[in-house]
Amino acid sequence: MNMIITMTDPRVAQFPDELITYGGNGAVFGNWAQFRLTMHYLATMTNEQTLTMYSGHPMGIFPSHTDAPRVVVTNGTMIPRHSTKENLETLYACGNTIYGQMTAGSYCYIGPQGIVHGTAITLLNAARKYLPPAASNAGRVYLTSGLGGMSGAQPKAADIVGMISITAEIDGAALHKRHAQGWVQLVIDDLDELVEVVRTARAEKRASLSIAFHGNVVDVWERFARHAEETGECLVDLGSDQTSLHNPYNGGYYPVGLTYEEALTSMASTPDAFKEAVEESLRRHVAAVNAVVARGAIFWDYGNAFLLESERASAAIKVTGDAELRALPDGHSGFKYESYVEAIMGDIFSLGFGPFRWVCASGNAADLAATDAIAAETIERLRVEEDCDELTRAQYDDNLLWVKSAGENKMVVGSQARILYADARGRCEIAVAMNDAVADGRLSAAVVTSRDHHDVSGTDSPYRETSNVRDGSMTTADMATHNAIGDAMRGGAL
Ligand SMILES: NC(=O)c1ccc[n+]([C@@H]2O[C@H](COP(=O)([O-])OP(=O)(O)OC[C@H]3O[C@@H](n4cnc5c(N)ncnc54)[C@H](O)[C@@H]3O)[C@@H](O)[C@H]2O)c1
Repeated sequence: MNMIITMTDPRVAQFPDELITYGGNGAVFGNWAQFRLTMHYLATMTNEQTLTMYSGHPMGIFPSHTDAPRVVVTNGTMIPRHSTKENLETLYACGNTIYGQMTAGSYCYIGPQGIVHGTAITLLNAARKYLPPAASNAGRVYLTSGLGGMSGAQPKAADIVGMISITAEIDGAALHKRHAQGWVQLVIDDLDELVEVVRTARAEKRASLSIAFHGNVVDVWERFARHAEETGECLVDLGSDQTSLHNPYNGGYYPVGLTYEEALTSMASTPDAFKEAVEESLRRHVAAVNAVVARGAIFWDYGNAFLLESERASAAIKVTGDAELRALPDGHSGFKYESYVEAIMGDIFSLGFGPFRWVCASGNAADLAATDAIAAETIERLRVEEDCDELTRAQYDDNLLWVKSAGENKMVVGSQARILYADARGRCEIAVAMNDAVADGRLSAAVVTSRDHHDVSGTDSPYRETSNVRDGSMTTADMATHNAIGDAMRGGAL
């Protein structure tokens, strides 16, 4: 109940009246009757019953036992033949299903903290894997786009890991909101000035300099491509994109050549022309990324359907040439770039490291600070005790850096929550240490622990988590189901 209240709190949720927590359509319920019924059942059910949630609808309370889950949830599951956006939206309008996003319909949204942490860990590991060894990330440049709901986390994460970041954002309101919050430091709207500022910052090896470019990201990539061509100097080390390309024609992606206002008008009044403009923009976008990558930058898809929509727009996103095609492993998707999971985070998930979150049910900041200290002490002990390789120790160290500075970074939105990565031993030991702290009164109330979609093998998603996993799991969906069944059998509560 605590978690559901947070998901629908007007201070947290994007559209609380519509029960949408984040991401434009990430729903907790389909309507308020479902909310009221669910809260009533949760308030009155016993510890020997299980409530089943069917896409926002409380389907039934069944007899179970104390170690069984209290609640089981499914959201937005469709029969493949009928699994279209149109059908899903019709059923949503009828109250039959919801799109639960990753953490709205599973009641574990914790604001932008998850994405700040995930992006910080992704950048640290990308630099470790692809860039020459260095004592720090000072002077390294990350180029991306989007200062919206989730994408706005990127400059903050780059600051935490000590990089220089450029985040292009076309919508002035979104940009100034993040600037006013202190999540991005400098605003630039002139491309030549941007190049000069980045050149100087690289030369001076500046750390933690975040730049918001007010304009279209395609213009930025093209400007950096031109600079590389003219001077031979590649100003970008790492690159990605976080426009909302999962929704390209209805406001998720603004085509180059149109102002923000022109795009809004075209989208509504001439949708066919707008679609063509988006496709042309994606072709230019990919061509410019290709040119900068040819000069040495590393690029990945950051889970926003960049590869998918670029292919649909006939951009040069696929490998070509007989020899190059022959070099691809069997079953490879053929994209030039990888999803961030494939390119970077898969290696970390393979170590057994993955994210989990906890929420202090008391709602007290002091409890969260105490849990941060417990997690930090546990990691400090494990990084010494555990007989682990360098990469595993580096994961402990990255997460120690995060949890020690998490309080200062003021990441709490709504619930007193924290995200962290650990391996199985780390999770178990942190959980036991928190249980002990509840038992001896150092924590004033229970701590809710929750999973995350990036949790090891938790998601089947061919463009992200299981991208190019060629044992069949790229296109089969058994693994996520096994996770759910397994967790339920092992006594997960939700
Ligand atoms: N890696 C992950 O696991 C992960 C996590 C969260 C979100 N995502 C995905 O990332 C995307 C962004 O999420 P969000 O919540 O920030 O969405 P959002 O719509 O709030 O933000 C996207 C921003 O991009 C800007 N934009 C669009 N086209 C642009 C262009 N051509 N140039 C410059 N700016 C442009 C928009 O104005 C908007 O502010 C979504 O597709 C989402 O599904 C992935």
